[in-house]
Amino acid sequence: MIIDGKVLSSEIRSDLKKEIESIKNKYNETPHLTVVLIGNDPASESYVKAKERACKQVGIKSTLITLPSTISLEELLKVIDELNKEKLVHGILVQLPLPSHISQDTVIDFMSQIKDVDGLHPHNISRLHTLRYSVLPCTPKGIITMLKSKDIQIEGKHAVVVGRSNLVGKPIAQLLLKENASVSITHRYTEDLASITKQADILVCAVGKAKFIAKDMVKKGAVCIDVGLSRVEGKLYGDFDFDNLLDHVSYISKAPGGVGPMTITSLLENTVECFLNQKKDIKL
Ligand code: GUN
Repeated sequence: MIIDGKVLSSEIRSDLKKEIESIKNKYNETPHLTVVLIGNDPASESYVKAKERACKQVGIKSTLITLPSTISLEELLKVIDELNKEKLVHGILVQLPLPSHISQDTVIDFMSQIKDVDGLHPHNISRLHTLRYSVLPCTPKGIITMLKSKDIQIEGKHAVVVGRSNLVGKPIAQLLLKENASVSITHRYTEDLASITKQADILVCAVGKAKFIAKDMVKKGAVCIDVGLSRVEGKLYGDFDFDNLLDHVSYISKAPGGVGPMTITSLLENTVECFLNQKKDIKL
């Protein structure tokens, strides 16, 4: 069975739109996300456009600040400082990756933790690890929503995560652990990767290599969640060999059209959550 992130997203977004309408009436204010895009990487530009479209769809105000790739760290921090202070901005997202001369860690650390819609600030990461979280990183949050939407049992299952990034691999491993799965994290140095992926009841792959996970690496009846996307000769592919796996697994997410739209849906939810935390003056 296919997990379609577009269909699930449109259901969640239509509920969210109603919630935002009533929030606007209650607070007489509109949740406002500001996205900062540095440089002109085509993939980042297209992700940012999709984020803006999604905000519009549910009634979140969005502002895009585009900055040249030559910007200095100091100038960028000045922009973020203004956004941190601006009461009418409730969420800040700095699109990653950043140009190589700008330290991603410094930028994320500098961002107000209560406006961190990505859940990437060290304060929010530590809250995730100790299960006192509010805002979760968008992609992992979207993946858990996908699994739950199909009533897929996580508890007691062996979940294998391929990739260990701060954005996806590490936080999804934590969330699966929170759901009482036994979790293995694998990465580029893992020896005999297939022997581990074959043990997975739930297999999450985020490496960005087309058809990286072949049928002989997957246990029959497994649940496959495809995070990676890569373009080969103009066509987008996920990390799983989708066509050959379809009859072999119990569930597989579409890619494109799976985790991507769910990541954006989680971003919308997180923006509302940040807004409400600020309105309720919740100290996080
Ligand atoms: N680049 C790719 N995915 C993401 C994301 O979820 N958040 C940010 N800020 N940048 C990204």
